[in-house]
Amino acid sequence: MTRDDTGTKGARGGVGVALPHDSSRLHVRGEADYTDDIPEVRGTLHAAIGLCERAHARIVALDLAKVAAAPGVVAIATAEDIPGANNYGPVVADDPIFATTLVQYHGQSLFAVAARTVRQARQAARLAAVQYEDLPPILTAEAARDAQSFVLPTERLVRGDPRRAIDAAPHRLRGRARMGGQDQFYLEGMIAYALPGEDGTLRVHCSTQHPGEVQMQVAHALALPVADVVVLCRRMGGGFGGKESQPGLFACVAALLARKTGRPVKLRVDRDDDMVMTGKRHDFVTEYDVGFDDAGRILGIELALASRCGYSADLSGAINDRAMLHSDNCYYLENVGIVSYRGKTHTVSNTAFRGFGGPQGMVGIEQVIDDIARHLDADPLAVRKANFYGTAERNVTHYGQTLVDNVIHPIVAELEAASEYARRRREIRAQNAANPYVKRGIALTPVKFGISFTATHLNQAGCLLHVYTDGTLQLNHGGTEMGQGLFIKVAQVVAEELSVDVDRIRITASDTSRVPNASATAASSGSDLNGKAAQAAARTLKARLAGVAAQHFGVAPEAIAFRANRVHAGDRSLPFAEVARLAWLARVSLSATGFYRTPKIGYDRKTWRGMPFYYFCYGAAVSEVIVDTLTGENRVVRVDIVHDVGTSLNPAVDMGQIEGGFVQGVGWLTTEELWWNDEGKLMTHAPSTYKIPVASDVPAEFNVRIFESQGNAEDAIHRSKAVGEPPLMLGISVLHALRDAIAATAGYTLSPRLDAPATAEAVLASIDELRARRAQAPAAARDASQASAKVAS
Ligand code: MTE
Ligand code: MOS
Repeated sequence: MTRDDTGTKGARGGVGVALPHDSSRLHVRGEADYTDDIPEVRGTLHAAIGLCERAHARIVALDLAKVAAAPGVVAIATAEDIPGANNYGPVVADDPIFATTLVQYHGQSLFAVAARTVRQARQAARLAAVQYEDLPPILTAEAARDAQSFVLPTERLVRGDPRRAIDAAPHRLRGRARMGGQDQFYLEGMIAYALPGEDGTLRVHCSTQHPGEVQMQVAHALALPVADVVVLCRRMGGGFGGKESQPGLFACVAALLARKTGRPVKLRVDRDDDMVMTGKRHDFVTEYDVGFDDAGRILGIELALASRCGYSADLSGAINDRAMLHSDNCYYLENVGIVSYRGKTHTVSNTAFRGFGGPQGMVGIEQVIDDIARHLDADPLAVRKANFYGTAERNVTHYGQTLVDNVIHPIVAELEAASEYARRRREIRAQNAANPYVKRGIALTPVKFGISFTATHLNQAGCLLHVYTDGTLQLNHGGTEMGQGLFIKVAQVVAEELSVDVDRIRITASDTSRVPNASATAASSGSDLNGKAAQAAARTLKARLAGVAAQHFGVAPEAIAFRANRVHAGDRSLPFAEVARLAWLARVSLSATGFYRTPKIGYDRKTWRGMPFYYFCYGAAVSEVIVDTLTGENRVVRVDIVHDVGTSLNPAVDMGQIEGGFVQGVGWLTTEELWWNDEGKLMTHAPSTYKIPVASDVPAEFNVRIFESQGNAEDAIHRSKAVGEPPLMLGISVLHALRDAIAATAGYTLSPRLDAPATAEAVLASIDELRARRAQAPAAARDASQASAKVAS
């Protein structure tokens, strides 16, 4: 035990201690068990799914004779073998496990095969003879909007009178922001291992952020009572939202084959197939029409958001809602109209990805701000500040929630000073003027992100906590571990409450038989919800143990104190373990549940008014880039971040989330490009063609600070704040630094057109387009900018 690890109560690792991830030692030694590492039971079969090869077609005939005859094949399953519902849709029943008559994306599952080895199964799955009758596919968000092809109804949110405000404004711009999707690229691919038990029961190990939903999906598909299915997950090798709703398909297939064969069946999906078959971040096209004053203050704005949802609804409703609710980012939009089109396309069903639509909403408004600034020849930061929410006025969001915790002003002030933004901006401009080929750019962008599931009922959590007679504990809650450090944080909460060393707490796998009906670990709410539930369970146990100790010492329970692994009554004390043993002898229960639901929240989805979020997380980043204007190649040379986590439960874990989230956001906006061909086939389905950031892409100078705050204004667990998703949106600063560098190639007279991802190719194209635009009207460049921005829509 080192001093640094000691919490306030004298035990190792209470709240606020920078402990390493509970599994870090196992991770680096390769000893952490992922689903594929669970020792296989004798007789285990391996499964593979047969994929369709059309984006949109009717199935005329499906001949599986060759599949059945392939070496090692033991069983085949098609839709006809499903005893229950042929569906794993999380919200709407529109996700067939196996397509029957119609295929709706290239890669949709048609059937599955179980064979003796993984290789045999994968080879057999390719031998199907399928006859299709092709139908015309709709492939993009805009095509879907134009064809009125939607997975869910169009939504509208209005405050004030945007039309009138835009028309009356001194300045007006129209434009468009496009942003691509993103593959979650979890390192551990989708996997499920289904083990049949006695009397029709089933145990499924699955890499999922939502074991409870997988349990229900499997039960419904197999027509089993939910109580007959247990789903377990000790950890995922990353989820990033990709394992929020979609593991259900793989679990259902493994379970179905296990049912059919009576043998354990493992389905580990090949990386390329995983990328083809699983949903990604929604790509968006946002069109805007904005009116503003001389200071760049937005007086009225209309935003039209169109997203590519794919062939089914999945979580697209809530994702697009969140995009609408984050279209303000940190800015007060007094008169605003937002329309949101949820495009149905013949592509894979897009799903959750860190930020859950929030990032897309924020990229839209940030481009509006940047276009305004360039139009006015102002520092984009000045325009941002002119539009910031206030603290006493101009502090009601477009959905009617009053911001009571706005700390964006001090965060930006601190960051501006720490990063020397103003000085560097001046120097960069001078350097750019002197250097014809290499341009630098700098940008500061803010983040405000709402915390809570917007579906209010999901904001609940449960915990099950046991104490054993040797003073060790087992901790279980409804949350899942995907690398984000949830398990250690919740363990720290329990250690704090009972003043015991965190090492005494055995953290067990998420398990639907221990904590039922748990929500997905998502919306960054894992530690908020499960931390509070665990605290409640620990408090129940503490009260019981205090009662036992009080009896033993002959004092009132209020006189009992827990400190440094001991239970104290004045100057007398007993080891925690001894009190646990006394409780057992006194026949006092040493097991407790805890439950939590987030207070205050709730809103009316019909009017878009209310309090969808319990509180907000804030942060800001300054990024500087350097661009070779002859090739478009670029590097992020320096990044400064100040990010608010309230009173951190674990600063080491939080720092990891801030850094990792930022880098993942930069990947989304700069190098990760998904590309479908004209037939709707995803061509970027491996790291060879899909470029995620690697260690060498981390900025050489990367200064990250946790904002020194008064703690969360709301009573979140120990006044901490969620940290999982918000830092991703700090990456927007790199997109804007690139815009700034590109603007330099035309003497800062025009606003660049730059879609995300801003790959080197896109940057080069943007530079060429900008120069061409400038050449057209060199004398009146600024007017040209205005005119072309208007035409751009
Ligand atoms: N961090 C790691 N290392 N791996 C992940 O898969 N998922 C992110 C974020 N951070 C993720 C991660 C997403 S999408 C969410 S919603 C949160 O973690 C979920 O965990 P939390 O609620 O405990 O923060
Ligand atoms: Mo995170 S996108 O809410 O799983």
